[in-house]
Amino acid sequence: MGRQFFVGGNFKMNGTIKSIKDIVENLNKADLDPNTEVVIAPPALYLLLVREHLPKGIEVAAQNVFDRPNGAFTGEISVEQLKDSGITWTILGHSERRVILQEDDQFVASKTKAAIDGGLGVILCCGESLEQREAGKTIEVVTRQLKAVADKVKDWSKIVIAYEPIWAIGTGKVATTEQAQEVHAAIRAWLKAEVSSEAAEKTRILYGGSVTEKNCGDLAKQPDIDGFLVGGASLKPAFVDIINARR
Ligand code: G3P
Repeated sequence: MGRQFFVGGNFKMNGTIKSIKDIVENLNKADLDPNTEVVIAPPALYLLLVREHLPKGIEVAAQNVFDRPNGAFTGEISVEQLKDSGITWTILGHSERRVILQEDDQFVASKTKAAIDGGLGVILCCGESLEQREAGKTIEVVTRQLKAVADKVKDWSKIVIAYEPIWAIGTGKVATTEQAQEVHAAIRAWLKAEVSSEAAEKTRILYGGSVTEKNCGDLAKQPDIDGFLVGGASLKPAFVDIINARR
Protein backbone atom coordinates (compact mmCIF):
# COMPACT_ATOMS: atom_id res chain seq x y z
CA MET A 1 0.00 0.00 0.00
CA GLY A 2 1.27 3.48 -0.88
CA ARG A 3 1.87 6.24 1.62
CA GLN A 4 -1.14 8.44 2.32
CA PHE A 5 -0.68 11.99 1.00
CA PHE A 6 -0.32 14.43 3.91
CA VAL A 7 -0.76 18.20 3.95
CA GLY A 8 0.01 20.27 7.03
CA GLY A 9 -0.80 23.94 7.50
CA ASN A 10 1.65 25.80 9.74
CA PHE A 11 0.05 29.14 10.62
CA LYS A 12 3.18 30.21 12.56
CA MET A 13 2.52 33.36 14.65
CA ASN A 14 -0.30 34.55 12.41
CA GLY A 15 -4.03 35.05 12.76
CA THR A 16 -6.75 36.41 15.01
CA ILE A 17 -9.87 34.74 16.39
CA LYS A 18 -11.77 36.08 13.40
CA SER A 19 -9.28 35.15 10.67
CA ILE A 20 -8.70 31.68 12.11
CA LYS A 21 -12.45 31.04 12.35
CA ASP A 22 -12.70 32.07 8.68
CA ILE A 23 -9.97 29.57 7.70
CA VAL A 24 -11.74 26.78 9.60
CA GLU A 25 -15.08 27.68 8.04
CA ASN A 26 -13.49 27.62 4.60
CA LEU A 27 -12.13 24.12 5.29
CA ASN A 28 -15.52 23.03 6.59
CA LYS A 29 -17.21 24.05 3.36
CA ALA A 30 -14.52 22.82 0.99
CA ASP A 31 -14.55 19.68 -1.09
CA LEU A 32 -11.40 18.01 0.22
CA ASP A 33 -9.73 14.97 -1.28
CA PRO A 34 -10.63 12.20 1.18
CA ASN A 35 -7.30 10.53 0.39
CA THR A 36 -5.30 13.41 1.89
CA GLU A 37 -4.51 13.47 5.60
CA VAL A 38 -4.85 17.10 6.73
CA VAL A 39 -3.38 18.58 9.91
CA ILE A 40 -3.41 22.27 10.78
CA ALA A 41 -1.21 24.02 13.31
CA PRO A 42 -2.52 27.34 14.65
CA PRO A 43 -0.73 29.35 17.35
CA ALA A 44 -1.10 27.69 20.78
CA LEU A 45 -3.66 30.23 21.94
CA TYR A 46 -6.08 29.11 19.21
CA LEU A 47 -5.60 25.32 19.38
CA LEU A 48 -8.84 24.69 21.26
CA LEU A 49 -10.83 27.13 19.15
CA VAL A 50 -9.71 25.30 16.03
CA ARG A 51 -10.29 21.85 17.56
CA GLU A 52 -13.85 22.78 18.52
CA HIS A 53 -14.79 24.10 15.10
CA LEU A 54 -13.00 21.73 12.73
CA PRO A 55 -14.81 18.87 11.03
CA LYS A 56 -13.93 15.34 11.98
CA GLY A 57 -11.14 14.00 9.85
CA ILE A 58 -8.91 17.05 10.11
CA GLU A 59 -6.45 16.92 12.98
CA VAL A 60 -4.82 19.75 14.90
CA ALA A 61 -1.12 20.17 15.66
CA ALA A 62 0.72 22.35 18.12
CA GLN A 63 3.74 24.19 16.72
CA ASN A 64 5.89 23.03 19.63
CA VAL A 65 5.74 20.97 22.84
CA PHE A 66 8.03 20.68 25.87
CA ASP A 67 9.85 17.50 26.91
CA ARG A 68 8.92 17.46 30.63
CA PRO A 69 5.65 16.07 32.01
CA ASN A 70 4.53 19.07 34.09
CA GLY A 71 5.74 21.57 36.64
CA ALA A 72 7.60 24.84 36.89
CA PHE A 73 8.29 25.53 33.19
CA THR A 74 6.87 28.97 32.54
CA GLY A 75 5.52 29.44 29.05
CA GLU A 76 5.68 25.78 28.05
CA ILE A 77 2.96 23.25 27.16
CA SER A 78 3.20 19.50 27.87
CA VAL A 79 2.35 16.48 25.77
CA GLU A 80 -0.38 15.51 28.27
CA GLN A 81 -1.96 18.96 28.08
CA LEU A 82 -2.12 18.73 24.30
CA LYS A 83 -3.71 15.28 24.46
CA ASP A 84 -6.16 16.49 27.14
CA SER A 85 -7.24 19.16 24.65
CA GLY A 86 -7.71 16.78 21.72
CA ILE A 87 -4.54 17.92 19.97
CA THR A 88 -2.99 14.85 18.38
CA TRP A 89 0.07 16.23 16.56
CA THR A 90 2.94 18.62 17.08
CA ILE A 91 5.44 20.21 14.75
CA LEU A 92 9.01 19.99 16.09
CA GLY A 93 12.39 21.21 14.90
CA HIS A 94 11.11 23.97 12.64
CA SER A 95 14.05 26.04 11.38
CA GLU A 96 12.52 29.19 12.83
CA ARG A 97 12.84 27.61 16.27
CA ARG A 98 16.27 26.11 15.52
CA VAL A 99 17.63 29.44 14.26
CA ILE A 100 15.75 32.18 16.16
CA LEU A 101 15.24 30.32 19.44
CA GLN A 102 18.48 28.37 19.16
CA GLU A 103 17.02 24.90 19.61
CA ASP A 104 19.74 22.37 18.94
CA ASP A 105 19.48 18.84 17.52
CA GLN A 106 19.53 17.26 20.99
CA PHE A 107 16.68 19.40 22.31
CA VAL A 108 14.57 18.71 19.22
CA ALA A 109 15.30 14.98 19.62
CA SER A 110 14.40 15.03 23.30
CA LYS A 111 11.08 16.75 22.57
CA THR A 112 10.39 14.31 19.73
CA LYS A 113 10.95 11.41 22.11
CA ALA A 114 8.61 12.92 24.71
CA ALA A 115 5.91 13.49 22.09
CA ILE A 116 6.20 10.00 20.56
CA ASP A 117 6.35 8.28 23.97
CA GLY A 118 3.21 10.22 24.93
CA GLY A 119 1.36 9.14 21.81
CA LEU A 120 1.40 12.31 19.71
CA GLY A 121 2.21 12.39 16.02
CA VAL A 122 5.25 14.50 15.16
CA ILE A 123 5.90 16.57 12.06
CA LEU A 124 9.68 16.64 12.33
CA CYS A 125 11.31 19.44 10.35
CA CYS A 126 14.80 19.45 8.89
CA GLY A 127 16.56 21.53 6.28
CA GLU A 128 19.69 23.37 5.27
CA SER A 129 20.57 27.07 4.97
CA LEU A 130 21.61 28.59 1.66
CA GLU A 131 25.20 28.70 2.84
CA GLN A 132 25.11 24.98 3.70
CA ARG A 133 23.56 24.14 0.32
CA GLU A 134 26.17 26.13 -1.55
CA ALA A 135 28.89 24.35 0.42
CA GLY A 136 27.45 20.99 -0.73
CA LYS A 137 26.40 20.07 2.80
CA THR A 138 22.65 19.64 2.36
CA ILE A 139 22.45 15.88 2.92
CA GLU A 140 25.00 16.00 5.73
CA VAL A 141 23.00 18.67 7.62
CA VAL A 142 19.63 17.02 7.13
CA THR A 143 20.81 13.55 8.13
CA ARG A 144 22.65 14.96 11.17
CA GLN A 145 19.37 16.57 12.31
CA LEU A 146 17.48 13.29 11.77
CA LYS A 147 20.16 11.13 13.37
CA ALA A 148 19.82 12.98 16.67
CA VAL A 149 16.20 11.80 16.71
CA ALA A 150 17.02 8.25 15.56
CA ASP A 151 19.45 7.95 18.47
CA LYS A 152 16.55 8.48 20.90
CA VAL A 153 13.46 7.24 19.05
CA LYS A 154 13.16 3.74 17.60
CA ASP A 155 9.50 3.81 16.54
CA TRP A 156 9.08 6.13 13.56
CA SER A 157 5.49 5.09 12.78
CA LYS A 158 4.07 8.37 14.10
CA ILE A 159 6.75 10.62 12.64
CA VAL A 160 6.23 12.56 9.43
CA ILE A 161 9.40 14.25 8.16
CA ALA A 162 9.17 17.73 6.66
CA TYR A 163 12.13 18.74 4.51
CA GLU A 164 12.17 22.52 4.52
CA PRO A 165 15.19 24.20 2.93
CA ILE A 166 15.59 27.43 4.89
CA TRP A 167 16.28 29.46 1.74
CA ALA A 168 12.85 28.49 0.39
CA ILE A 169 10.81 29.36 3.48
CA GLY A 170 8.67 32.46 3.06
CA THR A 171 10.88 33.66 0.20
CA GLY A 172 8.74 32.75 -2.79
CA LYS A 173 11.79 30.77 -3.96
CA VAL A 174 10.50 27.19 -4.09
CA ALA A 175 12.96 24.30 -4.53
CA THR A 176 12.84 22.80 -7.99
CA THR A 177 11.16 19.42 -8.28
CA GLU A 178 14.63 17.91 -8.89
CA GLN A 179 16.18 19.59 -5.82
CA ALA A 180 13.34 18.47 -3.58
CA GLN A 181 13.13 14.92 -4.97
CA GLU A 182 16.90 14.50 -4.62
CA VAL A 183 16.86 15.34 -0.90
CA HIS A 184 13.69 13.34 -0.25
CA ALA A 185 15.24 10.27 -1.88
CA ALA A 186 18.40 10.75 0.19
CA ILE A 187 16.32 10.96 3.38
CA ARG A 188 14.53 7.75 2.41
CA ALA A 189 17.84 6.02 1.77
CA TRP A 190 19.08 7.26 5.13
CA LEU A 191 15.94 5.90 6.85
CA LYS A 192 16.58 2.52 5.26
CA ALA A 193 20.21 2.45 6.38
CA GLU A 194 19.79 3.96 9.86
CA VAL A 195 16.25 3.18 11.04
CA SER A 196 14.66 0.30 9.12
CA SER A 197 13.38 -0.78 5.72
CA GLU A 198 9.87 -0.45 7.08
CA ALA A 199 10.46 3.15 8.17
CA ALA A 200 11.94 3.94 4.74
CA GLU A 201 8.91 2.49 3.02
CA LYS A 202 6.21 3.96 5.26
CA THR A 203 7.45 7.33 6.53
CA ARG A 204 5.85 10.28 4.79
CA ILE A 205 8.39 12.93 3.70
CA LEU A 206 6.80 16.35 3.11
CA TYR A 207 8.27 19.28 1.27
CA GLY A 208 7.95 22.77 2.79
CA GLY A 209 9.07 26.14 1.50
CA SER A 210 7.00 28.57 -0.60
CA VAL A 211 4.48 25.89 -1.62
CA THR A 212 1.49 27.42 -3.41
CA GLU A 213 -1.53 26.20 -5.34
CA LYS A 214 0.51 26.91 -8.50
CA ASN A 215 3.66 24.89 -7.79
CA CYS A 216 2.24 22.01 -5.72
CA GLY A 217 1.08 19.89 -8.67
CA ASP A 218 4.51 19.08 -10.10
CA LEU A 219 6.08 18.57 -6.67
CA ALA A 220 3.26 16.18 -5.72
CA LYS A 221 4.13 13.97 -8.69
CA GLN A 222 7.65 13.20 -7.42
CA PRO A 223 7.97 9.63 -6.13
CA ASP A 224 9.43 10.58 -2.74
CA ILE A 225 7.32 13.69 -2.04
CA ASP A 226 4.39 12.53 0.09
CA GLY A 227 2.82 15.90 0.80
CA PHE A 228 3.55 19.40 2.01
CA LEU A 229 4.04 21.52 5.08
CA VAL A 230 2.59 24.86 4.06
CA GLY A 231 3.16 28.21 5.75
CA GLY A 232 1.85 31.39 4.12
CA ALA A 233 -0.51 29.66 1.68
CA SER A 234 -2.21 27.72 4.52
CA LEU A 235 -3.75 31.03 5.63
CA LYS A 236 -5.44 31.50 2.27
CA PRO A 237 -8.43 29.83 0.60
CA ALA A 238 -6.02 28.32 -1.95
CA PHE A 239 -4.82 25.94 0.81
CA VAL A 240 -7.69 23.74 -0.37
CA ASP A 241 -6.04 23.40 -3.79
CA ILE A 242 -2.83 22.24 -2.13
CA ILE A 243 -4.75 19.65 -0.08
CA ASN A 244 -6.23 18.48 -3.40
CA ALA A 245 -2.88 18.51 -5.27
CA ARG A 246 -3.02 14.80 -6.12
CA ARG A 247 -6.58 14.85 -7.40
O1 G3P B 1 6.43 25.13 8.03
C1 G3P B 1 6.07 25.70 6.81
C2 G3P B 1 7.11 26.57 6.27
O2 G3P B 1 8.18 26.90 7.02
C3 G3P B 1 7.04 27.05 4.89
O3 G3P B 1 6.56 28.36 4.95
O4 G3P B 1 5.44 30.35 4.09
O5 G3P B 1 7.30 29.28 2.79
O6 G3P B 1 5.11 28.14 2.95
P1 G3P B 1 6.09 29.07 3.62
